Amino acid sequence: MAYKLVLLAGDGTGPEVMRESVKVLHAVEDSFGLSFDFVPFPAGGQHYLDTGEEWPHGAFESCQTADAILLGAVGLPNANLPNGDLAGIGVLFGLRFGLDLYANIRPTKLYPNVRHKVHDGFKQVWDPGKVDFVIIRENTEGLYTPTRGYLDRGGTKELAIDSRVITRKGAERVIRFAFELAKTRPGAPADGKHRVTCVDKSNVTAGCKLFRSVYDEVAAGYPKIEKDYAYIDAFLQWLVRSPESYDVAVTSNMFGDIATDLAAVLQGGMGMAAGGNVGDEHGMFEPIHGSAPKHAGKDVVNPTAMILATQMMLEWLGRRKKDRALQESAVVVEKAVEAVLREGTILTYDLGGSAKCSEMGSAIVAATTRLAKKSR
Ligand code: IPM
Ligand code: MG
Repeated sequence: MAYKLVLLAGDGTGPEVMRESVKVLHAVEDSFGLSFDFVPFPAGGQHYLDTGEEWPHGAFESCQTADAILLGAVGLPNANLPNGDLAGIGVLFGLRFGLDLYANIRPTKLYPNVRHKVHDGFKQVWDPGKVDFVIIRENTEGLYTPTRGYLDRGGTKELAIDSRVITRKGAERVIRFAFELAKTRPGAPADGKHRVTCVDKSNVTAGCKLFRSVYDEVAAGYPKIEKDYAYIDAFLQWLVRSPESYDVAVTSNMFGDIATDLAAVLQGGMGMAAGGNVGDEHGMFEPIHGSAPKHAGKDVVNPTAMILATQMMLEWLGRRKKDRALQESAVVVEKAVEAVLREGTILTYDLGGSAKCSEMGSAIVAATTRLAKKSR
């Protein structure tokens, strides 16, 4: 039976990186006896300019019945909705809210031969083992709760309000997700301990006080996992200074949005950073980077973030469907990415090489096929 995968390649460089992921998925089909039914839809700013809608009628419904969804990137600088929002954001939020994808999973792992992107990253090489943590970002409430508005007075925008909603249920399920994830990981690089860090601003806000008290309640059910707390401001400082102390961190929506872009710097930049959006019934996987319109059509961007997002999809779907072949393929695709990085001859410009996006994608495809033969 084929797994139905909805592909939303989107804008800018989205289609270029999506093409490389599809190549990898074809290799996975051939090597692991799997079969995918690819269902592509246009989505984002360009589609909005062409048609007046962010994605076609029926696309969301198709996502509802998909086994998983892959998203490239949405957004173009000149494509805005009448209210000023970027056209395409409705696709992203339509999926996150509409499919209740409450856990946004953002692994930060520094692979061999990849330099961090902190200043002078090409001069100061870090031991890749230092950086291997996951930030779990709440994805359906917090400051992103769609209860906001403006007050106009005499035709002038006088006041803008965003309400930050934290609920017990919203906090509970994402915190539990973080603890369950921690059980499956090797622990923090510094000491091998399983640890879930609660990142909040509970010294000030009511929502964060609730979030932290729910964290304590959930943590009580996981006595083997170390409890850890950090205020978001201090956390960002510690994350840069000693990333090796972290294993899993869990936080509310906008704090997670901000922290994960910073974290991407520690793993070699946005070209390396993948994200998963997961709920109890559905999963959507995407690179963290945007559509990078200035690079579009040049075949130069790094496909790794999209391929690692696809790898996360294989792992998630494999576990969900209890499909061993899918699970094995996820292990092999990650090893293939690692092998190409370690080899170091076919890398895109952001990693210090001069390979095209499609060349790096093909190298990962070849490594997938080669390593699959060894593993089976
Ligand atoms: C992300 C992005 C989005 C977000 C934007 C594009 C709305 O920055 O996935 O982190 O903030 O969630
Ligand atoms: Mg972001």
